Amino acid sequence: MIKYKLIGPLTQLVSMENCAIRGILKDNELSVIKNAGILIENEHIFAIGDFNDLKEKAVALDAEIIELYGDYVCTPGFIDAHTHICFSGTRARDYAMRNAGKSYLEIAEAGGGIWDTVMQTRKAEKEELSHNVHKRANTLLKNGITTIEVKSGYGLSVAEELKMLRAIQNANQVTDADLIATCLAGHMLPRDFEGDHKTYLDHISSTLFPILKEENLSNRIDAFIEQSAFLPSHIYPYFEKAKAMGFDITVHADQFSTGGSEVAVQMNAISADHLEASTDHEIKILAKSNVIAVALPGASLGLGCDFTPARKILDAGGALAIASDWNPGSAPMGDLLTQASILGTFEKLTNAEVLAGITFRAAAALNLKDRGKLSSNMLADFNLFQTDHFNEIFYQQGKLVPSQVWKKGNIVYSRS
Ligand code: NIG
Ligand code: FE
Repeated sequence: MIKYKLIGPLTQLVSMENCAIRGILKDNELSVIKNAGILIENEHIFAIGDFNDLKEKAVALDAEIIELYGDYVCTPGFIDAHTHICFSGTRARDYAMRNAGKSYLEIAEAGGGIWDTVMQTRKAEKEELSHNVHKRANTLLKNGITTIEVKSGYGLSVAEELKMLRAIQNANQVTDADLIATCLAGHMLPRDFEGDHKTYLDHISSTLFPILKEENLSNRIDAFIEQSAFLPSHIYPYFEKAKAMGFDITVHADQFSTGGSEVAVQMNAISADHLEASTDHEIKILAKSNVIAVALPGASLGLGCDFTPARKILDAGGALAIASDWNPGSAPMGDLLTQASILGTFEKLTNAEVLAGITFRAAAALNLKDRGKLSSNMLADFNLFQTDHFNEIFYQQGKLVPSQVWKKGNIVYSRS
């Protein structure tokens, strides 16, 4: 049965329509509709426009009319295109050691680092992991994030990676957010694997990849390209196989040293994420490619490192998304809106560029075409903020949270 709903009037509706996928975006390029309405048909947007005009349509369609009183700003539902929220345990000790001046090596020798989370995550049952993902996804959802990418990568064996990806799949059944799973079996060479990097990746691609397809667990393959993880020479054949099987490619690139973004460009990856160490050369090749650059300010804040050169990427004509990287090691905060706002202040991004980074440019980083903008036929995923201007959202640096979150045409979170 077709069900129509009209919501409004909205002081401002920021639709992101007609905004370019790449390059500089000025605040005055945003399409902002005043006294707006949003007419929903089941899960999708039927129309947006002037509230009074839509009201006539709504009456003709016998729509439910949800009338609002006071100031509301409506944005598309936010998209967090890079997280590692499927994990167990904590790495608070790593954080303390790092801030006390200990090196990466000293922390690893004390039993910290990614391997520590692998050990803790392997101990957890699938149900516990699924519960953790559900809980964290709901935390993000309350802040207006209606689509969340979630990586595996703390299993690092076929069985343990499957456990993680099935836990993510189960969590996706119960949370109102959409979870987009990514296989990050290429996170590091597991310490207990008897063989070298190449043998491990061959094993994963020949054994795990077919099961991902069979069980529909993920259509995205990620790898961490870094001295401490995998080199480009290891990853090229791994990604070739993934592509031949129809997977989308995404890369942890240029976090501490360069090399990853070159692989992303050569392999026509959907996105290259991190890029804190990218130089003008990497910025140039990324900007000339179709790859979406994903800044992860949460990792810079967690590690006390430089931010991704977001301004330079946009000025060069690149496409920039912004994601939280929420993980127990480098990015424990898990607050996309705060982090994106802070990246804006340090990198001198316009509010339009920050908003684009967590809406339609983030959708592109996940190769999703049905969300990130508010227009007819897009998913009815949107946030209502109790304020009179969208500038307030970034100005309050994450402290202004949506008073209503709508997902696929239904209200899924409301603050009174
Ligand atoms: O995106 N860089 C590699 N992976 C994660 C960190 C994972 C961890 O420390 O547990 C990241 O920052
Ligand atoms: Fe990451």
